[in-house]
Amino acid sequence: MKMITAKDYSNMSEKAAAYLLDKIKQAPDLTLGLATGGTPIETYKCLVQDHKKNNTTYQHITTFNLDEYIGVKAEDPNSYYHYMKEHLFDHVDIPKQQINIPNGMASDLEQECKEYEQKIADRGGIDLQLLGLGSNGHIGFNEPGTAFDSTTHVIELTQATREANARFFDKMEEVPKQAITMGIANIMKSREILLIVSGEKKSKALDRLLNGEIDPSFPASILKKHPNVTIIADEAVLKHT
Ligand code: GLP
Repeated sequence: MKMITAKDYSNMSEKAAAYLLDKIKQAPDLTLGLATGGTPIETYKCLVQDHKKNNTTYQHITTFNLDEYIGVKAEDPNSYYHYMKEHLFDHVDIPKQQINIPNGMASDLEQECKEYEQKIADRGGIDLQLLGLGSNGHIGFNEPGTAFDSTTHVIELTQATREANARFFDKMEEVPKQAITMGIANIMKSREILLIVSGEKKSKALDRLLNGEIDPSFPASILKKHPNVTIIADEAVLKHT
């Protein structure tokens, strides 16, 4: 895994956006895997600023988001669909039909997972997957204990993950208990991975990723086996690793 250090959250975001833009310019028909959560918000802001300034086009980009809450409507401000529109999709020229996010409102969730898998396969897999790191080592919503060979599936969110994400909701009771997530096998099959990590609260997780064993109890640990992972981490998170 290659490590790029950044001064702080803003600098990490600028470096992550520059990294993505470089790839987009090299391959304008890139298939991008995208993440949500707090960490990528400013990375997306930088992409939007660049689009306004330099008119970098997303006309031929296809995106697959990692995950979506189950039971949260697309138009709900807490859905990841809404998040992506708010932070990126509404501000760049990506055609709607090239955006893929699991449908957490599907009546048949198993079928939804199968169809999502098929869409990724039809596109020939993911070229570059952007990832954040959960404090408990989750990637996407692949919680501790998820099999390394898992594909897109329904997951029960741990209490720790629900608590970590409660800041986005009015009340703890509103935080969904389940999500659809791409599996670890999908993430590992992507040709390249960019992991962004910021802030002291992620130090333990990053330390375990860098120095711990590869074990399903810490899903991100499998990334060590991927041949092309770049981590961009800021000084605050690196200080305690
Ligand atoms: C969230 C998302 C992940 C994200 C991770 C870290 O719950 N499902 O895709 O990478 O947990 O989130 P954050 O960036 O808010 O710390």
